[in-house]
Amino acid sequence: MRATKLVVSRRGVMKGGSALAVATAVPTGWAIAQAKPLKVGLMLPYSGTYAKLGENITFAIELLLAEKGGKLGGREVQFVKVDDESKPELAPQNADRLVKRDQVDVLIGTVHSGVQMGIHKVVSESGTLTIVPNAGNVAVTRELCAKNVFRSSFTNWQPAYGMGVAAAKKGYKKSVWVTWDYAAGAESGQGFKEAFEKGGGQMLPNLTLPFPQTNFQPLLAQIPGLGVDVVGSFFAGGGAVQFVKEYAAAGIKVPLVGSGFLTEGVLGAQGAAAEGIETALHYGDGLDNPKNAAFRKAFKDKAGRDADVYAVQGYDAAQLLAVGLEAVKGNIEDEANLYKALRAAKIESPRGPISMSASQNVTQHIYLRKAQGGENKVVGIAVENLADPGTGCKLA
Ligand code: BEZ
Repeated sequence: MRATKLVVSRRGVMKGGSALAVATAVPTGWAIAQAKPLKVGLMLPYSGTYAKLGENITFAIELLLAEKGGKLGGREVQFVKVDDESKPELAPQNADRLVKRDQVDVLIGTVHSGVQMGIHKVVSESGTLTIVPNAGNVAVTRELCAKNVFRSSFTNWQPAYGMGVAAAKKGYKKSVWVTWDYAAGAESGQGFKEAFEKGGGQMLPNLTLPFPQTNFQPLLAQIPGLGVDVVGSFFAGGGAVQFVKEYAAAGIKVPLVGSGFLTEGVLGAQGAAAEGIETALHYGDGLDNPKNAAFRKAFKDKAGRDADVYAVQGYDAAQLLAVGLEAVKGNIEDEANLYKALRAAKIESPRGPISMSASQNVTQHIYLRKAQGGENKVVGIAVENLADPGTGCKLA
């Protein structure tokens, strides 16, 4: 009954570390379904300011797998988890270990844009299928795009662009972007600026501090003297909790808006300080669709806390992987059909229907939300079906 065929595997070559192509006997059809577990590397932050983000992504991936009966494309899944600590300097060695030592078939990671660059360097060389479940650095799906790298989240440009559109429409005229000095902060500031200036607004130079520092007082002290009528911001995780609390405590009268991460998954900790803050994101509370209702209930049952955008992105990373593996019946070596299926994937996400852009990033609505009573309530759509421009990506 066991059928075999001979394939030349680039992935096998890389894993073996040999410079020569090798022929590998790979079982097909029924036999594939019985094959060894698929190894999935989860390279995520489980400590530091982004720890909760990494945890929620992981819970949601495990949830989707449980819903699929513990198998994707007929194969059992084995996870190999690495805490990347949101430290870019450790990223190449962590990714390299997963790819070369653990020989993962798929790498899902990560949250921090700087760490993503380290992963990207490694997987662009190894050809390992990679799904980005959060980090928004634009290069990964712009000039450095690669056929084996897909994103289930956003680019840093997307939500901030949506907020810039909304801020200009509200009639704000002059703004400043306050953020951490790394890719996510700078690129989201760029997205806000582009839309805000297109809408007639004016931006001052960014106010920044190094990631993950939280010494916000010197920045906050400058704001009243700037003459701005709105402040835009990117912070996330533990840093966002502290920034929003200190902004409110400083008694600054200028409204604070942001990329939705500013209030996402942290409203409980921010309390009254967050009340009324408007943000833009590809998810929000009160999205009324059956998938979202089922997902939120299942996530809460598993994790003991409410789902947020990070959970949604993790769930969709696993949904995307499931689509690809089902198309090739678990044979991850069938790269041509695997990538074809991933590129064409139409996914019912808790955030609404999503698809892949030509550069393998998500095309999605950017919702306008308002923090009210502990929820990021969706109050409108800032931009419908927004695709990142994918500038410089040559994937057809
Ligand atoms: C980033 O580094 O890309 C990022 C981190 C947290 C939330 C959003 C983006």
